[in-house]
Amino acid sequence: MTGSVLVTGARSQLARCMGMAGAPPGWRAAFLAREELDIADEAQVQTVLGEGAPDCIVNTAAYTAVDRAESEPEQARRVNAGAVANLVRWCEANGARLIHVSTDFVFDGRASTPYLPEDEPAPLGAYGHGKLAGEGETGKLPAGQGVVVRTSWLYSEFGRNFVRTMLALMAERDELAVVNDQIGCPTSAHSLAVLIWRMVLLPPKSGLYHWRDGGVMSWYEFALEIQKWGQAAGVLQNTIPIRPIASADYPTAAARPAYSVMDRSGAMKDFDMPEERDWRSELIRVVGAIAEQGGRP
Ligand SMILES: NC(=O)c1ccc[n+]([C@@H]2O[C@H](COP(=O)([O-])OP(=O)(O)OC[C@H]3O[C@@H](n4cnc5c(N)ncnc54)[C@H](OP(=O)(O)O)[C@@H]3O)[C@@H](O)[C@H]2O)c1
Repeated sequence: MTGSVLVTGARSQLARCMGMAGAPPGWRAAFLAREELDIADEAQVQTVLGEGAPDCIVNTAAYTAVDRAESEPEQARRVNAGAVANLVRWCEANGARLIHVSTDFVFDGRASTPYLPEDEPAPLGAYGHGKLAGEGETGKLPAGQGVVVRTSWLYSEFGRNFVRTMLALMAERDELAVVNDQIGCPTSAHSLAVLIWRMVLLPPKSGLYHWRDGGVMSWYEFALEIQKWGQAAGVLQNTIPIRPIASADYPTAAARPAYSVMDRSGAMKDFDMPEERDWRSELIRVVGAIAEQGGRP
């Protein structure tokens, strides 16, 4: 299969990692930032997609401010659901495929074994509700034409994410307290980019997949790893004490799932994803890239 791909939200962590990885042979890719394509603007979607006539759209654009979404839920929903409907309508009318990215925040975190794609979602907050509605829009396309891939705890050397935030705080502060009762899976935007390019190349068998890296841990445990590899890469000079705390001691506007590990076996199998890209080597790679940017996250 060959053709053209349009990637929305060109400045997202994911789009930047997709750009670094490069489109598969035979595929042309265009990356459009918000000022070139505001996906919430239906008229612009029709015009820009009409001109580009992509065979496949990868929607990385999203309202990702989880806490702010609690005070402006309609803005979050407008981008995470209404805008997805705009893309779906164009795909429907033009026979194009849509690969849409969603989140572990569609789950309430009460499970104790990894969530399967078919498990019942029950979002805790406005961000999760909006993203779930976006999944519903994508599901209006026939399976194979519309595909949702849920991911979790995304990080990279780009943008706003936990790794960059932690490295900055660890360089500035004398000590840190990090929550130890939310369990999930940090996922490198680079490994998600590999999966998405494979989804472009190989027609999906299902309409819903889970993707995450292999490590299962708390934010506190992840912070310890970030400190360790930050020091190894020369980004951090000193070790500071990091204290585990409960979520109750770190109140946020949005509630977060206590457990958001997702079963990724369907994606591993259908897209023949390499096992050797383990979570630690992904973290080391990203911290190394931050060191190359000048060491200061
Ligand atoms: N970050 C996570 O931990 C996480 C976890 C699970 C799932 N996800 C999902 O994974 C996907 C990628 O996340 P990410 O962290 O790579 O995203 P990100 O770095 O937060 O970037 C989101 C991008 O979307 C763009 N955008 C917002 N509204 C737009 C609009 N109306 N039209 C066009 N572009 C718009 C933003 O543009 P500006 O640059 O102009 O602001 C920004 O570049 C999203 O669907 C997200 O929901 C993320």
